[in-house]
Amino acid sequence: MVEPITLPSRERREEALDAAGYNAFNLDADDVFVDLLTDSGTGTMSAEQWGALMRGDEAYAGSRSFRELREAVREVMGFEHVVPTHQGRGAENVVYGVLVEEGDAVPNNAHFDTTRAHVANQGADPVDCPHELARDPDADHPFKGNFDVDAGWELVEDVGAESIPVVVLTVTNNSVAGQPVSVANTREVAAFADEIDATFVIDACRFAENAHFVREREAEFADATVAEIAREQLSYADAVTMSGKKDALVNIGGFAAMDDPDLFEAAKQRCILYEGFPTYGGLAGRDVAAMAVGLREAVEPPYVRERVEQVAELGRLLTDAGVPVYEPTGGHAVYVDAESVLPHVPKERFPGQELVCALYLEGGVRGVELGGFAFPGTDRPDLVRLALPRRTYSREHLEHVAETAAAVRESAECYEGLQIVEEPPMRELRHFSARLEPAAASPSAD
Ligand code: F0G
Repeated sequence: MVEPITLPSRERREEALDAAGYNAFNLDADDVFVDLLTDSGTGTMSAEQWGALMRGDEAYAGSRSFRELREAVREVMGFEHVVPTHQGRGAENVVYGVLVEEGDAVPNNAHFDTTRAHVANQGADPVDCPHELARDPDADHPFKGNFDVDAGWELVEDVGAESIPVVVLTVTNNSVAGQPVSVANTREVAAFADEIDATFVIDACRFAENAHFVREREAEFADATVAEIAREQLSYADAVTMSGKKDALVNIGGFAAMDDPDLFEAAKQRCILYEGFPTYGGLAGRDVAAMAVGLREAVEPPYVRERVEQVAELGRLLTDAGVPVYEPTGGHAVYVDAESVLPHVPKERFPGQELVCALYLEGGVRGVELGGFAFPGTDRPDLVRLALPRRTYSREHLEHVAETAAAVRESAECYEGLQIVEEPPMRELRHFSARLEPAAASPSAD
């Protein structure tokens, strides 16, 4: 699909941002020129996927489209059972709702926002165990997304193995600048989970992009295909949660997959309660059919290489324009180091969120803050994610983004930070709907 986009006037952008409470989630998409808010469900489907969509089977139970998905999951990911869900967080609800109880702790290389919220919603404690270099935007390491198994063992010492029912590995690591996880690390995490008798779940949203990085960077896999690497990496997990909106290349959909028949049975029951009958899981049959095709396409060359190279290209354009970015660039997004772009804005005035607003004001570009505003109570660096929808934008769009970011950097002193004026009750979901205002606008601001 192709659709026209326009850059609204500066005056309109100012009005729109003010009306949105300085939160880019509240903007109308029509007011956005280049939309890098997310790579989730925003990509372009292939002709094969559109064909599958037309042939979708809308039977309530036992549809042919479900069988196509089950076959694709078996072949691409290697799991016997699949429970479709409306999107990734539906899979999180199904899996963590079954496995996690009040008072538990769940370690993850880094929780993404909805994962964190689902663990917290079960009354459990989501604990991040990122690689020691994860927080350093300049450190050079091929797998900064890895899980720090020593940190996992420290958690075991603190809370006891019996309080850790699940160990999660997120590939690629969205909260750590889209950095990949090595297969070697995956094996270590699997061994750790096994030793403490926990279920090992991979959050597989971007499993194909991760496999591409493994092929490029992990010597053992230099001659393997992305499809082979993906299967190998996922083979160490007991289950996956998947957002089809990422590496299954669809606009909506997700699933959980596993081998264990007991976990499958329990997940199906929860699926019936929250998602729908477990052969459609809250989706139209046609969406299930398109997801089955997209899952296979994600691991076929040259798609994933071109995809990750486009992200690297955006990183190079930004760096050449003097904009500091997290290095190396990740699989689905470039993360701009907001604390370096706006060094005069203190952390409590949300330099990342301020940079999101500045990018919109300057060039109608929408990104998202993944730092102190999105993850309250953590010490995450203030990064602004510019996520590229799959198979969507061209080089001219990327150039516009780099020029916009360079212009913001040059006028950095105009941006003084923000303060929250309204926020929702659940802190983990704050950035989706909180409203803010320029900090200088408040009489109490110093
Ligand atoms: N896990 C990870 C690592 C994710 O990035 C996301 C979604 C989910 C789970 C939940 O999947 O959206 O289909 O319910 N991430 C999107 C993003 C929203 O913008 O990064 P979902």
